[in-house]
Amino acid sequence: MSPIVSVEHLGKSFGGLRAVHNVSFNVEPGEVLGIIGPNGAGKTTLFNCMAGMFPPSTGTVHYQSENVTSWSDAKLARAGMVRTFQLMRPFGSMTVLENVAVAAAARGAKERDAMAQAWEILQRVGLDHYATRTSKDLPTAGLKRLELARAMALHPKVLLLDEVLAGLVPTERQPVIDLLLSIRDNGVTLLFVEHVMQAVMALSDRVLVLNHGETLAYGTPSEVVANPEVIEAYLGDEVTNVDSK
Ligand SMILES: Nc1ncnc2c1ncn2[C@@H]1O[C@H](COP(=O)(O)OP(=O)(O)OP(=O)(O)O)[C@@H](O)[C@H]1O
Ligand SMILES: [Mg+2]
Repeated sequence: MSPIVSVEHLGKSFGGLRAVHNVSFNVEPGEVLGIIGPNGAGKTTLFNCMAGMFPPSTGTVHYQSENVTSWSDAKLARAGMVRTFQLMRPFGSMTVLENVAVAAAARGAKERDAMAQAWEILQRVGLDHYATRTSKDLPTAGLKRLELARAMALHPKVLLLDEVLAGLVPTERQPVIDLLLSIRDNGVTLLFVEHVMQAVMALSDRVLVLNHGETLAYGTPSEVVANPEVIEAYLGDEVTNVDSK
C-alpha cells in the first residue's frame, strides 16, 4: 500500500529560527499518527506547512501520491486534507448549526442538504443541544467539538488535529477520544498533535516526537515512551504515570 501522506525533509525557518528541520515520515491510509514534543518543538508549524497555511522552506509534502507542497489550504481541504486549529476560529455570531453548515456548503452541499448534514454531524459529536446557540456561547469543550464538527463536514480523508484535547478536564477527554476512534473507524487517516499522553497512547499507531524542530524519535507508542531521549526531553517523570499528562 502506498502512503496517503508522505513528508520528506520538511523544514521551515522564520528569519534565523529553524522551527522545523529535516522532518520525514509516511502515513499509511487509515493509520493514526500522534505527534508530541515540548512547547515550541515545531508541531503546529509542521501542520501549517503540511496543510498549506504557508509553504515550507525546504522539503516536500505528498498527498495521495501527488506533490501538494505548494497547494493552498483551501485546495488541500477540497482534496480531503483538512486541519483543525490549536486556537479555535468559529464564526462567533453564527449559530453552532450554521458554523457546521457553512463547512458542508463549502464542500458543495446545497443549503438544505448542508443543514441536514450539519445536524447529523452535531448529533455525532454531541453538540446537537447547542445547535441554535451562537458559537461564542460555547464552553471550551464545546468549541473543540465544533472545530471537529466543522472539519468533519468537509468530508476529510486525512484530518490534522492540533490539540483537540487541550483545555478539557479529564472527564471531558474520553468522549472526544472515543469520537476520534469512531472517525478513524470510518476510514479517516488521523494525524494529531497532543500533549495529553492518555490520548496519544489510546489512539496512535505510531508516534513522531519532535524536539527543537527535529525528529527525536518515531515508533510505536510503547517504543517512544520507553525511549530515554524522549523521557529526558519531554516526558520526564510523567512516563511512570502517562495518564496524568
Ligand atoms: N508565524 C511564525 N513566525 C515566527 N515564528 C514562529 C511562527 N510560528 C511559530 N514560530 C516559532 O516556531 C517555533 C515552533 O513553534 P510551534 O508553534 O510550531 O510549536 P509547537 O510545537 O506547536 O508548540 P506548542 O506545543 O506550544 O503548541 C517557536 O519558537 C515559535 O515561536
Ligand atoms: Mg502548537
